[in-house]
Amino acid sequence: MNENERTQEQYDEMYRGESYYWTVRPSRTCFEVLERMPPDRPLRLLDIGCGEGRNAVFFARNGYEVHAFDISGTGLEKTRRLAERAGVSVRVFQADLNRFRLDETFDILFSTGTLHSSDPSVRAELFENYKRHTAAGGLNVFSVFVDKPFVARAPDSDPNTHLWRSGELFTLYHDWQIELCAEEIFDCMSSGVPHQHAVNRLVARTPASKPAPGGRRAGGGAE
Ligand SMILES: C[S@@+](CC[C@H](N)C(=O)[O-])C[C@H]1O[C@@H](n2cnc3c(N)ncnc32)[C@H](O)[C@@H]1O
Repeated sequence: MNENERTQEQYDEMYRGESYYWTVRPSRTCFEVLERMPPDRPLRLLDIGCGEGRNAVFFARNGYEVHAFDISGTGLEKTRRLAERAGVSVRVFQADLNRFRLDETFDILFSTGTLHSSDPSVRAELFENYKRHTAAGGLNVFSVFVDKPFVARAPDSDPNTHLWRSGELFTLYHDWQIELCAEEIFDCMSSGVPHQHAVNRLVARTPASKPAPGGRRAGGGAE
């Protein structure tokens, strides 16, 4: 069994049963999207590593066109059921983020608690793909687990993952407008054992237009 199969099996096992391991309450990072890019026109959003669907379904209920993927088939099945119960549609598909690359554009790329599963050796290329497939003026909104020497690894963390270096994610967006870059440490009770997580939260917006030769934005007015 390879690393990805082990990860998939571990999450399938966690998601077995009727209850929702990560609850059905949306992550607070969702509200960054609602506030900064409300669905006052049709907006396509991709949830990367959607788990059991708490965030994807929240976005669908709020009027976004939601696509979502995860490595866990059991998680995707629960996402479908949660969407059905809420009377909304979420287009789910199974994929491994280390292999899957976007070939269509989204207004918003969103992910919480998943991107530490990206292999550090593919991160630069993976995020170039994500950035290239974000619509002009669109957002990338990510929350990633980071390594802090004074925060112990979570008891239910996947041993195949690679915590981010604190600040690493922000540097990948040096050429976008960073609207939020924050580091937080919070208490968590997943698995029933009290522990902490350190996260970096990023909201980055792609430039609405490409810089014109000479450095000015096309169509830009006086400063
Ligand atoms: C901590 S959970 C977070 C789930 C969800 N984003 C949430 O906030 O409720 C991490 C998720 O990443 C998924 N995952 C792990 N490795 C993955 C990979 N290589 N490709 C796609 N998804 C993966 C797991 O199946 C799991 O659902």
